[in-house]
Amino acid sequence: MYTTHAHITTWVVAVILFVIALVLIKSGNAKGTKIVHMILRLFYILTIVTGAFLFFKFQSANPALYGIKLLGGLLVIGMMEMILSRMKKGKGTGLFWILLIIFFVGVLYLGFVKLPL
Ligand code: HEM
Repeated sequence: MYTTHAHITTWVVAVILFVIALVLIKSGNAKGTKIVHMILRLFYILTIVTGAFLFFKFQSANPALYGIKLLGGLLVIGMMEMILSRMKKGKGTGLFWILLIIFFVGVLYLGFVKLPL
């Protein structure tokens, strides 16, 4: 349906780039991390743009749930970004991992199970 394919593609790519960035940080590859992190940020934007398209097209069907989906999607992206930037600085990330998993599962549930598309 209307750009859900594009939306899924963009967030799956973002998740893969996130994992690659984690590995690069762990292996101390600062240059590689920088490049992958930059591309990842581009995919955050693409995920938000494709999600926003879906949102404006379909939110009137169930504004509250769509609002939660939008917020949850943004929070998932926010947590990924927090984890990467805190890891780069050598700070703790435990809390952000827990939040990431909670928001990610919530968003997948809403996207695949609850919302109509
Ligand atoms: C990494 C973050 C995100 C993940 C993992 C995610 C995941 C998903 C999934 C699994 C679907 C269902 C697709 C389908 O059934 O075809 C979906 C749909 C959708 N997403 Fe996202 N999303 C994310 C970010 C966002 C953002 C940032 C926004 C808003 C700006 C957003 C708005 C939407 C909307 C409006 C839909 C359509 C819901 C429906 O009716 O099924 N998403 N997303």
